[in-house]
Formats: sequence, C-alpha cells, structure tokens
Amino acid sequence: MNHTTYTWLVTGVAGFIGSNILQHLLDRDQIVIGLDNFSTGHPENLDEVQAATDETAWNRFTFIEGDICDPKACAAACKGVDFVLHQAALGSVPRSIDDPIHTHESNLSGFLQMLVAARDAGVRSFVYAASSSTYGDSPLLPKVEDLIGEPLSPYAVTKLANELYAKVFSKLYGLPTVGLRYFNVFGPRQDPNGAYAAVIPAWFSALLHGSSPSINGDGETSRDFCYIDNVVQANILAAVCPSELSSGQIFNIACGKRTTLNELFQLIQQEVAKYAPDAADAEPTYLDFRPGDVRHSLASIDKARNILGYLPAIDVAEGLRLAAPWYAHRLAMSDAGAL
Ligand SMILES: NC(=O)c1ccc[n+]([C@@H]2O[C@H](COP(=O)([O-])OP(=O)(O)OC[C@H]3O[C@@H](n4cnc5c(N)ncnc54)[C@H](O)[C@@H]3O)[C@@H](O)[C@H]2O)c1
Repeated sequence: MNHTTYTWLVTGVAGFIGSNILQHLLDRDQIVIGLDNFSTGHPENLDEVQAATDETAWNRFTFIEGDICDPKACAAACKGVDFVLHQAALGSVPRSIDDPIHTHESNLSGFLQMLVAARDAGVRSFVYAASSSTYGDSPLLPKVEDLIGEPLSPYAVTKLANELYAKVFSKLYGLPTVGLRYFNVFGPRQDPNGAYAAVIPAWFSALLHGSSPSINGDGETSRDFCYIDNVVQANILAAVCPSELSSGQIFNIACGKRTTLNELFQLIQQEVAKYAPDAADAEPTYLDFRPGDVRHSLASIDKARNILGYLPAIDVAEGLRLAAPWYAHRLAMSDAGAL
C-alpha cells in the first residue's frame, strides 16, 4: 500500500509503547528517528522490531542513544522531523514515590527540553504521552478531560505539569501540541520484570512461572485497560489531526470500559492456562492497598472519538489473548538462557 512518507521522531523508542509505534510506522513506509537512553527500555525491543520488518523498512530507522534532558540530543533528534511522538518518561507511580528526583528530571525537565527542541525545529505537531493519573483524587466516573482532581503522586504531578507546559507552548509559540491521557496500556513488550512492573505483565510472568500473583487491596479496584494497538492508532490520528481542532488539547485514550483486578486475574489465568495448565488452579495473594493508587478509573472517550476519529478496535479480553503468546515466548527464551 502507498502511504505519504513523513519523518517521525519517537522518543522512548526502546520502551513498550515506543517500540510498538516504531513497528507500526516502519510497516507503513515512514521514516523514523528514535531517541532513548535505555533507562527502562531495552535493546531487545528494537531487535524484535528489526526481526519483524524487512531490511528496506528497517533502513528507514535511525536510532540516537541519548537523554531527553540533554538539549543537544533533543535538537539532533528533532532535525527535519514532521511529527514528534513523545513517549520517553519514567513510568510508575511507586517509582516516583521512591525516587521523585529522577522522575522529575526525565518527566518534566526532559519534557521541557523536548518542547523547546520541537518548537525550534518547527515540527508540524508534538504529540505526547499524558496519563490518567492526572485525574488524581477525583471520584467522578467516567473521567472527562476537563474535570481533574488533585495529583496523588510525584508521577502525576509531572504528567499534569506536562499538560500545562504543552498548552502554554501552543498558545505562546504556536507549537501544535496534543496530549494523550493513556489509561493502563498493555500488550507485547511491556516489561514484566522489576519492582515497578505494571500489573498485566507482572501477572503473566508470575502465572507462567507457576507462582501466585499479588493483588493490592481487595481486588475490586478497577481500571480501564487499553490494548497497545489502540494507543498506536491514537498517536497517529493525533499527529495528523488539523491543528485548529487539536492543538493545546488533551484526549483520554482508553477503551471506555472498566475491569476489576479480580476479573483481570481470571482473564489472564485463562490465557496462561493454554500454555501452563497448572495456572488454572492458581489463587492470587491479597496484599494491602498501595499508597498513591486511585480506586476506580474509567474514561469517557467521546472527545477522542469525535475530534480525532479514535475507535478502540481491541477490547481487554481480545488484547490479553493477543499479548499472551509474547509472554509465553519470552518465558521460553529466558528459560533457554537467551534473555
Ligand atoms: N504503559 C502505561 O500504561 C502508561 C499509562 C500512562 C502513561 N504512560 C506513559 O507512556 C509513555 C511510555 O510508557 P511505556 O509504558 O512505554 O514505558 P517504558 O518504560 O517501556 O518506555 C519508556 C521509554 O523511555 C525511555 N526513557 C526514560 N527516560 C528517558 C530519558 N531521560 N531520555 C531518553 N529516554 C528515556 C526508557 O528507556 C524507555 O525506553 C511514558 O511517558 C509513560 O509515562 C504509560
């Protein structure tokens, strides 16, 4: 299929969301520059994209190993770029509670460096990963973009401040910015390892290893889990949306459905049991509630649907079915000593 070819900068390209965006763009004849410092991303994610694309497509990708806190790296990465899809940040609410300084550096100082570099390079649009954590202590459901509460963690503070900076850059300097408030994204290449692993990869990993996943709280906490392909779609739609409709705007990116942790456990258990039959008998271990966590999360996606044309094509059950083979393969590779 013929596509108009643009040049895209994907920051955080070696991470979960960034590497999936990279693969999507290369498959559609696009030129991609990637920037990453491998702080939480992995070279193996880029190797996987290379293995999944043909040589011509892979040759359209240039990787810059660098830090978004370094203005020279940001300027070099933005040179000649049409669209910036800014994903680089230190994720995880608990990480930010343990280490607010590093979260602030990457998520806020680095974000500002990227805005300045994108403005100076005259890019067509700057799309960035915002977060549902910005809703903070607001009990309102579903979450609508204009009604937020007080942040509950340093991570949420940085993501809220990103939105404020981006809006100011749109107004003051005419840089078209679009914020995408992601709600619990999941899918292949989301890191299952480490203390700050997100719930879905952590549970896939535990069940595949024959151990019992932990649930923080009573399991009735709920989230609007969103499969990665929906998020990739939202980034592309946001980048090419006419700026008079989208500049300075924020959009919820989710499925618009709520799943409790107890329901999620059962769905993952069913998938893992296809690879490791003993998982069917596993029971979760219930722990205390975690500080900084919100109780329920559910997005209204009307704004993204109406303005961007966003339609989440894959629901949570289908997404888990699609993600399961990747986790099973990864476990087989690590058991074989290949990881
Ligand atoms: N995964 C989710 O559920 C979710 C939800 C809301 C928001 N987000 C946001 O989406 C974005 C991508 O998240 P992800 O889940 O892919 O996480 P990830 O950790 O897999 O990817 C982040 C990438 O950014 C890179 N990075 C971090 N700091 C950097 C720096 N200073 N300079 C250069 N590169 C740096 C990391 O090495 C990593 O490759 C983040 O901004 C995150 O806050 C994610």
